[in-house]
Amino acid sequence: MQLFRLIYCSQPFGYDLPMLNGILADAKTYNPPNSITGALICREDIFLQLLEGPKENILLTYSKILNDDRHLNIKVLLEEFCENRIFPQWHMKDDPARSWFWTKEQIHSGILQTISKCEVIDAFEKVANSLPE
Ligand SMILES: Cc1cc2nc3c(=O)[nH]c(=O)nc-3n(C[C@H](O)[C@H](O)[C@H](O)COP(=O)(O)O)c2cc1C
Repeated sequence: MQLFRLIYCSQPFGYDLPMLNGILADAKTYNPPNSITGALICREDIFLQLLEGPKENILLTYSKILNDDRHLNIKVLLEEFCENRIFPQWHMKDDPARSWFWTKEQIHSGILQTISKCEVIDAFEKVANSLPE
């Protein structure tokens, strides 16, 4: 099985803890049977999600995510086949978008549309490297 990776960003609509918990509950229900792992970097002004797994399952899940009214302005930043999972142990790791990633001003002015693929992968690698073993 070839592993596929998709990263997108979006703007949360009505962000609060119950909403985030609802999304994580969906991920917990659907991702394990679909061999999907990943991470969701989240803050009231940004969702940045990494999904990894079989291509068909990733695209099907992404098509559901695209139609979800809990966020807006959804844009794919990266789609590629890859060798290894960045979050092999996580059906969906949630991580607060800390200010050392990008400030709210940077997000507001559209920095995610201009950063390179390496930089976006690097953000997730940093989250993965900060997790306890
Ligand atoms: C930011 C965001 C991330 C999401 N991540 C996932 C995910 O990783 N896996 C998943 O199955 N659903 C995820 N969802 C929820 C889906 O959009 C969808 O509601 C869910 O898969 C149930 O779809 P269904 O009722 O059509 O089966 C996410 C939604 C949002 C807004």
